[in-house]
Amino acid sequence: MFASVDVLVFTVLSLLLSNVAGVPTADPGIVVTDDVINALGGGLIQNFSASIDLESFLTNFITMDFTASNMLLLFEMTLNTVSLLAGVNDTAFMSFNHTFDPPVVIPALGTADSGTIDNVLMVQGTINSLDIIPLAELDILDMNVTIHVASIGGVGGIPITTNGLTETDVPTTYSLQTLSV
Ligand SMILES: *[C@@H]1O[C@H](CO)[C@@H](O)[C@H](O)[C@H]1NC(C)=O
Ligand SMILES: *[C@@H]1O[C@H](CO)[C@@H](O)[C@H](O)[C@H]1NC(C)=O
Ligand SMILES: *[C@@H]1O[C@H](CO)[C@@H](O)[C@H](O)[C@H]1NC(C)=O
Ligand SMILES: *[C@@H]1O[C@H](CO)[C@@H](O)[C@H](O)[C@H]1NC(C)=O
Repeated sequence: MFASVDVLVFTVLSLLLSNVAGVPTADPGIVVTDDVINALGGGLIQNFSASIDLESFLTNFITMDFTASNMLLLFEMTLNTVSLLAGVNDTAFMSFNHTFDPPVVIPALGTADSGTIDNVLMVQGTINSLDIIPLAELDILDMNVTIHVASIGGVGGIPITTNGLTETDVPTTYSLQTLSV
């Protein structure tokens, strides 16, 4: 028995394959809607972990990592790039563009750690962002991702680009490494 999400993926993959085969579609750039990705992942990013150190107050850059999840029953997913704006109440506080090297392989129905993402810009400045720490959650205001669906051990798969993803109330832990100074 296939989960409905997997049926959806089969449909998307068929569309993409017919696209690759030269059949004209509305979206020649292989772009799927966030509805599909939301159905795929029910939220690609499960939680964030942000690390703020003394230098962050001078540079307004911090490091983050996140747990990525793949709700597909049958297909591995490989994460290639993520660009995102995250914040609170429609105000952006963090922004990054990251290429995963090597790509992050997320098993079917599994999770994977993104690894460290350097150069996460504190859009409002680090010193002006401390108020959001106790909230312990971030909204993803805008996220563009490139993935490969149905990769095998991180190799191959169908490339999918999708823009404009959003998520609300993603649990976020902060570690402040200045307080011991
Ligand atoms: C994030 O989610 C993963 C998978 O559920 C879990 O193992 C990890 O502890 C969580 N991390 C944080 C910082 O909550
Ligand atoms: C996502 O892509 C759109 C269209 O290219 C762009 O306008 C937007 O700024 C991008 N978002 C992020 C967070 O990079
Ligand atoms: C977000 O908006 C809610 C409702 O308007 C408000 O109660 C809360 O204080 C706001 N939080 C921040 C961090 O601005
Ligand atoms: C991410 O890329 C976009 C588009 O190129 C750019 O506008 C934005 O400043 C970049 N963000 C960071 C944090 O470098």
